[in-house]
Amino acid sequence: MTDRINDLLTRIESFAPATAAQVEEFRIALLGKKGEIAALMDEFKGVAPELKRELGQKLNRLKSAAVSRIEELKSTVGAREDAGSARIDDMTRPGSDGHIGSRHPISLVKNRIVEIFSRLGYTVADGPEIEDDWHVFSALNFPPEHPARDMQDTFFIEKNPDVVLRTHTSSIQVRTMERQKPPIRVICPGRVFRNEAISYRAHCIFHQIEGLYIDRNVSFADMKQSILYFAKELFGEKTEIRMRPSYFPFTEPSAEVDVSCSICGGKGCGVCKGTGWLEIMGCGMVDPNVLEANGIDPNEYSGFAFGMGIERIAMLKYGVGDLRLYFENDVRFLNQFDSAL
Ligand code: PHE
Repeated sequence: MTDRINDLLTRIESFAPATAAQVEEFRIALLGKKGEIAALMDEFKGVAPELKRELGQKLNRLKSAAVSRIEELKSTVGAREDAGSARIDDMTRPGSDGHIGSRHPISLVKNRIVEIFSRLGYTVADGPEIEDDWHVFSALNFPPEHPARDMQDTFFIEKNPDVVLRTHTSSIQVRTMERQKPPIRVICPGRVFRNEAISYRAHCIFHQIEGLYIDRNVSFADMKQSILYFAKELFGEKTEIRMRPSYFPFTEPSAEVDVSCSICGGKGCGVCKGTGWLEIMGCGMVDPNVLEANGIDPNEYSGFAFGMGIERIAMLKYGVGDLRLYFENDVRFLNQFDSAL
């Protein structure tokens, strides 16, 4: 039996097939139900107990040698055959397009929003993700005991309460007001951080985009019209908006903006929970305290600000039900978004 095992091993080693069909034939002869290895296994049952250990090991080695050799031959002989058939192909045929990937849906939506506001004369402003208390809270009229400063909501760095990860992109507005005199018209996209448990509707990292407009005689009506224009551009010509009174420390008066549900056209559906409306952003007239804190005279200038979560807009636009998908970067998810948008 040992001789037959050794003999098979040499045959496996030296086997040099020309075609994939020969490899398959060889596989059946060796590893098939009625193949040579199966026959040896049968015989093995009757072997004297003192020989079993050694012969068993040999048989196992033979089997794995056969399996790996056949796997190897399958890929090399198969590839050679493929290359052979390619050679007789039409050499003048144009090459196939290389796949260049697609943009992340958050980038797509961000670019679209920036593009809409740039038509209204806004330019993009940027700022750091690691901020200080002044730019995230104090300059925006947050009282010292405001709950947003609480450890529960804000990530503080190295136990120094003056160094924080920004919780909103309003900090970029403060930096813009420091640098620039009115008129100011900026749009501020960026990543923000909040100490929240991760679920289908909340994440500790997400993206916001905020706008700030300061000039002489800027009114609530200007804000409303700008936001209406934006909503129609993003969600379609038929879109309507409504504003509900709200509160933010940095704006007065403040409002939440709803758009008519783009899925059901305002009739009421699962996405808008039967109300016909979807909340998309917060907004308001810049509080005079904020203007003053940033060196702008509130008697001369007024302005409005608005801010929205990009993930939320993307979820509404694409009908994505789970926020976490945006962070997992599974290509099967990302491939579905058309970069041309
Ligand atoms: N910064 C606010 C937030 O993070 C959004 C906002 C921006 C509201 C500007 C009003 C004006 O929720």
